[in-house]
Amino acid sequence: MACRYPTGILQYGNWTGNVLLASATRLMFMATILSHCTVNSIQAAAKSLLDGALVAFPTETVYGLGVDATNEKAVKRMYEVKSRPSNHPVIIHIASSDQVDYWATEIPEYAISLMRNYWPGPMTLLLKRSKNAKDFITGGQELVGLRVPDHPVALALLSEFKQIGGRGVAAPSANRFGSVSPTDANAVSQELKSRLSPSDLILDGGPCSIGVESTIIDCTGEHPVVLRPGAITIEMIESITGERTQMASSQAPRASGLLEKHYSPKAKVKISNSATADEGFIAEQGINTPAGAVRLASPSTLEEYARQLYAALRKADDLGLASVSVVPPQGQGLALAIRDRINRAAG
Ligand code: TXA
Ligand code: MG
Repeated sequence: MACRYPTGILQYGNWTGNVLLASATRLMFMATILSHCTVNSIQAAAKSLLDGALVAFPTETVYGLGVDATNEKAVKRMYEVKSRPSNHPVIIHIASSDQVDYWATEIPEYAISLMRNYWPGPMTLLLKRSKNAKDFITGGQELVGLRVPDHPVALALLSEFKQIGGRGVAAPSANRFGSVSPTDANAVSQELKSRLSPSDLILDGGPCSIGVESTIIDCTGEHPVVLRPGAITIEMIESITGERTQMASSQAPRASGLLEKHYSPKAKVKISNSATADEGFIAEQGINTPAGAVRLASPSTLEEYARQLYAALRKADDLGLASVSVVPPQGQGLALAIRDRINRAAG
């Protein structure tokens, strides 16, 4: 059949278009995992979304648990699968910025500059909601969160969904409430397999290239305000908008990723450069492992640190470790986002 997407955009699949069955693993009582995202399988996934199924999909930040953002029943089930309190708002993922007008209104100039420069990308904009963004998406708030993710599988899914009449895909990170966000399809399956149903899907797009969640920017005031730091840094926002940009004060709109304890593994996370025998240890490459500790990651750059952090915390649980010592990176930019997640994991 004809390819609707430029060859190569689904870089993780092969293009025979008929491997859907060969590549699908369906286990009893759980979702199907698709590891070869062909045109056919993306079309099937978009159709499943429209039919009310849950589709977990890769983004450049973390995996999302997607659902049709206009389908209240499906959104409710997504909240149940995550055990997420229903008054927590969820980000709507769209294929391109021409879908913003459906969901939001009174969009400031600086938000338009941000969209032009950083979408697709790891940035969520909070805008004044339109009448289409219902309470079941915004948690009853007057803001709606929108993002165009930068991952070939996510973009293909969102474009196909748009093509068949979908308006946007609501997707929180594909983990149980409060736990570590998944950065590969296996982690999604580990988190949710017992809670998903056979008609739900997990699209495998390989490991996430960034590894920490998107920067959340409140665009309803005179200047942008960062609610959650991420790979789009304050410096990057200021350089594009010319607007003074600050981190939010504690009066920020409610956001579950902003809870003091979040992103936590079962193992106790401590911020410390010492570790006793049999404790996990996460630190930059130049820092030696304390005697007897179990090294879980040795990133040599901030980008590597962000990419490896959640997988390292998960590994601590896989190994049954009771605690993990983490040495946070110094500096601004992405280091700020990494420290934020480490602090929250440590509670
Ligand atoms: O990178 C990401 O942002 C990932 C991927 C899947 O896109 N998504 C993600 O979603 O991290 P979630 O739900 O785990 O975290 C999104 C945060 C939550 O803390 C939520 O409360 C906040 O964004 N948020 C979403 N819509 C909002 C709104 N209308 N007002 C205030 N906060 C909002
Ligand atoms: Mg989350």
